[in-house]
Amino acid sequence: MKIAVFSTKSYDRQFLGVAFERSGHQLSFFETHLGDETAALAAGFDGVCAFVNDDLSASVLRVLSQQGNRLIALRSAGFNHVDLLEADALGLTVARVPRYSPHAVAEYAIGLILTLNRKIHRAYTRVREGNFALDGLLGFDLHGRTVGIVGSGQIGLCFAQIMAGFGCRLLVTDPYPNPAVRRLARYVDLPTLLGESDIVSLHCPLTPETHHLIDRVALDQMKPGVMLINTSRGAVVDTPAVIEGLKTGRIGALGLDVYEEEGDLFFEDLSDQVIQDDVFARLMTFPNVVVTGHQAFFTRDALEAIATTTLVNVDAFSRGEHSGNEVSAAQIVPNR
Ligand code: NAI
Repeated sequence: MKIAVFSTKSYDRQFLGVAFERSGHQLSFFETHLGDETAALAAGFDGVCAFVNDDLSASVLRVLSQQGNRLIALRSAGFNHVDLLEADALGLTVARVPRYSPHAVAEYAIGLILTLNRKIHRAYTRVREGNFALDGLLGFDLHGRTVGIVGSGQIGLCFAQIMAGFGCRLLVTDPYPNPAVRRLARYVDLPTLLGESDIVSLHCPLTPETHHLIDRVALDQMKPGVMLINTSRGAVVDTPAVIEGLKTGRIGALGLDVYEEEGDLFFEDLSDQVIQDDVFARLMTFPNVVVTGHQAFFTRDALEAIATTTLVNVDAFSRGEHSGNEVSAAQIVPNR
């Protein structure tokens, strides 16, 4: 099969190149995002391979379908950027990489917690400038603290296992409880979780139900000074509401690896440009905020797994079979 790979970075080329070397499939790499203006680049290919900030809305899918592309191979677990109803209507197969490395993301969320709690981001710059004062770097023991986990799937489970090791009390909310998580944590409703947690970590997908799950109302239910961590999808959090929460002190620390409007920013070197997004720029002014550019997944193990599963998905499609990683609108039940 001939596959057009969009949003390609050097590491995609490297890991996909190795996985597909003897596959008989042909990959063509495009650095540009997939969208209305670039969909025509995939003409003559059997399918496209897309990442999280590629645009797979209805109009793009229609162009892909018209020019004979039949497979959308996602290099991500999340598929909120695909209009699945339209893909189904057009008969396009959408396959994702569901479990490439839940450890990578869970471990990263804990990295954000440790950084924010012990102010490692501030200590790093201070010490480099010869400032060894400890004022302002005071943290708290994680042991004994209550951690709220929103979403107890693959990543939520890994996260719960690690936080249990820290000796934290764990509360979880998920419309579909996970028996493995139930052994470590207590399932509660979202208001209870928000009201009792010292740290809240988001591990649910972005769906219509989870869009702005953390909004003004949710913030009012949270403990004053709560630490909020988002490694799921940016739009699960209402960013202006969270900025207000930071200003009032309702949020004591914020760790984001994802951002609602990240499509215009993340994965690119914009260091010589003026950032036009004022909401993002305001976030950068808080000492108790750490934002990273969607890198929680970014481990060697995860990139190998993404490349290998993408090959499995392309192989299965080329043989007219299912890999089991296909997603369609029909499979998406409310809240899932
Ligand atoms: P998963 O599908 O295994 O688990 C998601 C869980 O969230 C499910 O148990 C589901 O029932 C639950 N959920 C759905 N709606 C909910 C709601 N309203 N409240 C609470 N829970 C809800 O997915 P996985 O692999 O754990 O990934 C979670 C999300 O993490 C992905 O959807 C993706 O958006 C994000 N992600 C971020 C990465 C990064 O690099 N920052 C990398 C990989 C995934």
